[in-house]
Amino acid sequence: MKKILIINGPNLNLLGNREKKFYGDTTLDKIKIVCEDKCKKNDLKCDFFQSNHEGELIEKIHSLKNDFDGIIINPAAYTHTSIALLDALRATSKPKIEVHLSNIYAREDYRRKSITSEAVNGVICGFGENGYVLAIDAITNLIYNKV
Ligand code: DQA
Repeated sequence: MKKILIINGPNLNLLGNREKKFYGDTTLDKIKIVCEDKCKKNDLKCDFFQSNHEGELIEKIHSLKNDFDGIIINPAAYTHTSIALLDALRATSKPKIEVHLSNIYAREDYRRKSITSEAVNGVICGFGENGYVLAIDAITNLIYNKV
């Protein structure tokens, strides 16, 4: 069975309490369950990971090479700052989707630029937790060459 990595960056462990105006009531535990259910339906295994540390996120991305068939990543604030995450994503040609709960283009100027998106097949943002579900469909299609 194909296996995907779902990575979440800094402060996403605080979902449920954090800036509800942008992120709603959902928690990361709930998003994990939604993702695991959707992956099962799409015949994928998934490893759901969160870290507040850039280096840990980078090392997890490195594990794509041998252990996974694709990655869905919400790099959170590192989206807008991290050339190191961009380089790690660039180092693999496996399918990659970037997700954001909020519409980063409808927020502050400094959120409108995604550094990491240069390395991914596509970006889904503004659909809350459903963005992860949409991303799982998109990566399923990429892994099985349906698009
Ligand atoms: C986010 C958007 C980022 O700008 C922000 O720093 C986050 C969450 C989102 O999912 O909407 O932490 O990635």
